[in-house]
Amino acid sequence: MSQLDLDKGAEKTARPDFSKYANHAATAPAYFSVNDVHAYYGESYIVQGVSFIVHEGEILALLGRNGAGKTSTLRALARTGSPEVTYGEIWLDHQPLHKMSSHQAARAGLALVPEDRRIIPGLTVEENLQLAQIAKPVGWSLERIYQLFPRLGERRTQEGVTLSGGEQQMLAIARALARDIKVLLLDEPYEGLAPVIVDEIEKTLNVIKQQGITTILVEQNAVRALQLADRAVILDTGEVVFDGTAQEVLDNEQLRHDYLAI
Ligand SMILES: Nc1ncnc2c1ncn2[C@@H]1O[C@H](COP(=O)(O)OP(=O)(O)OP(=O)(O)O)[C@@H](O)[C@H]1O
Ligand SMILES: [Mg+2]
Repeated sequence: MSQLDLDKGAEKTARPDFSKYANHAATAPAYFSVNDVHAYYGESYIVQGVSFIVHEGEILALLGRNGAGKTSTLRALARTGSPEVTYGEIWLDHQPLHKMSSHQAARAGLALVPEDRRIIPGLTVEENLQLAQIAKPVGWSLERIYQLFPRLGERRTQEGVTLSGGEQQMLAIARALARDIKVLLLDEPYEGLAPVIVDEIEKTLNVIKQQGITTILVEQNAVRALQLADRAVILDTGEVVFDGTAQEVLDNEQLRHDYLAI
């Protein structure tokens, strides 16, 4: 799908209340903004009018229970086509991602690191990174990547799929940085990893933030994600039920109990 079918979405959904975005609209448009996005897997209506903004260089934790729609939202934002976005707008630095294919969105600076990491079998660590740099625009140099991830430098000639889980996660993030990206979408990067490895990945995410890259972090490990994030959005059955600072969620026991089970 190259163009949104606005009429189709409009039939199924009521016009949203944009008044809460009035402040943002009155000043500059947000760096990354998701406006009333609706998306379907076939007939299954999953992403049900999701709106939020992310400021440049911020880390946003996107949280919610199993099945809340976190992965579907990331896939919708990355324009994967599944789920299919039927209504809504996605803007990155004044570029209308909602009008783009996944390839165009990637070229516009959006990188999705999926849960399964997708390391390419038969290729070394370095070849996985080089492959990411075949298409322009190229991002970080291999040298800079190995500075941030010394383990990957040490294992550059090792086949990527033989790395440990933590190292594969690092490679998946590194591969995103090998392209010139503005926004990094991470789906459960800490999954299955020991706490010391999570510490390491967290440190790299902070370095990435200092370089001005914006991150949306989906995590089951909500406490770890909230400790790292600036702000948080909580989803429940495909809708936003909370939008605020990460600290507000950490401080609000009821909210954590109701929507995060922590
Ligand atoms: N390909 C698909 N086809 C149909 N329904 C799907 C598909 N993928 C996910 N769903 C449904 O969409 C809903 C949201 O799933 P999603 O994977 O986005 O949730 P999630 O918040 O990422 O959950 P988890 O924490 O378990 O990863 C679920 O009800 C799920 O069953
Ligand atoms: Mg998921």
